[in-house]
Amino acid sequence: MARIALVTGGTRGIGAAIAKQLKADGCNVAATYAGNDEAAKAFTDETGIQTYKWNVADYEESAAGIAQVEKDLGPIDIVVANAGITRDAPFHKMTPEQWHQVIDTNLTGVFNTVHPVWPGMRERKFGRVIVISSINGQKGQFAQVNYAATKAGDLGIVKSLAQEGARAGITANAVCPGYIATEMVMAVPEKVRESIIGQIPAGRLGEPEEIARCVSFLAADGSGFINGSTISANGAQFFV
Ligand code: CAA
Repeated sequence: MARIALVTGGTRGIGAAIAKQLKADGCNVAATYAGNDEAAKAFTDETGIQTYKWNVADYEESAAGIAQVEKDLGPIDIVVANAGITRDAPFHKMTPEQWHQVIDTNLTGVFNTVHPVWPGMRERKFGRVIVISSINGQKGQFAQVNYAATKAGDLGIVKSLAQEGARAGITANAVCPGYIATEMVMAVPEKVRESIIGQIPAGRLGEPEEIARCVSFLAADGSGFINGSTISANGAQFFV
């Protein structure tokens, strides 16, 4: 039977590559998005992957959306908490609003995405939880106190979930992408981006498909003993 996979933020960027890869792996995939209807429609037209619209920062919306996915596709076996935003600013300029937006979406959003699927995974004695963290959660980043806090928090989440889920056949792992050629990175001022690329030994940005490959590996049935780990894919920019 095909595994059912949910990818949040799955219609653009890294998430879209993950959704496509999991489909290619034989999963039945649902991809969520927050607001860009046009991109979601184009994604479904291109891939045939069904999309769902909800705000991961809202628990009730997430729980209702997940219930709908499970009604449509069946119980979720693989959950990829990928949805994330940036609100970059040097700390002395960062507003409480910028702090809370990023915490609510990137960190509370992981809770809201995983918590509703967790009881079913425990009952069925199988689950794959994959959280998309970031190199900037590992090393910190100028102008990203908010974002780095959430991405470091992701690593605490998976290490804790791994211990809680292990006996129930559930794994929880993180992927830490480096700088990947997505809209999020392209939004960084060009001069800053060029200087970042200069710090990547590979001499280039990563491709979304290179992150999807990590997720595919962690999501596989045969990856059951890989639990609480972090895979970094950053072109040798940073080692933990
Ligand atoms: N390291 C050191 N100094 C830096 C810096 C850096 N990475 N980035 C900017 N600065 C410096 C600037 O040179 C400038 O210094 P001077 O005043 O001496 O010239 C100062 O910091 C910026 O001051 P401003 O008041 O002009 O800053 P601003 O309010 O206009 O904000 C910024 C600009 C938001 C910081 C902008 O430079 C920026 O977006 N930087 C990129 C931050 C970044 O790397 N974000 C990662 C996004 S990608 C991502 O998050 C995906 C992932 O997971 C990897």
